[in-house]
Amino acid sequence: MRVLQNGRQLARAENANIKVVELFSLLHDTQRRNENYDPEHGMRAAQFARTIRGSWFDVTDTEMELLSEALIHHFEGYTDGDVTVRVCWDADRLDLGRVGIEPKPDRLCTVSARDPNILFWANARARYKA
Ligand SMILES: [Fe+2]
Repeated sequence: MRVLQNGRQLARAENANIKVVELFSLLHDTQRRNENYDPEHGMRAAQFARTIRGSWFDVTDTEMELLSEALIHHFEGYTDGDVTVRVCWDADRLDLGRVGIEPKPDRLCTVSARDPNILFWANARARYKA
């Protein structure tokens, strides 16, 4: 849900495709097999997304391509691509505080995510412990 909040904030600021960003936020880690090293979970998430397209959600072919690209490559740390894909990756990276990592601005893909206020907001939420 933190990634979803990050994504909505960034999508508005970057004029990205909010539907794709929301779907990415909800699906990107659904196929993890462990919480540590699982480099194929993005590929599995993209495959899963294809299986539920049309029943759980509807998107255009272009939106599906963007969603698939974002899901498949969200583990690698790329910073280049369509603005919607970059917003997806930044939404996830802004939550790195959950594992004790502070996102480095030069590893973020959008101007909005590098904004010190956004970084502070995201870090404070990611580090929250109930
Ligand atoms: Fe992930």
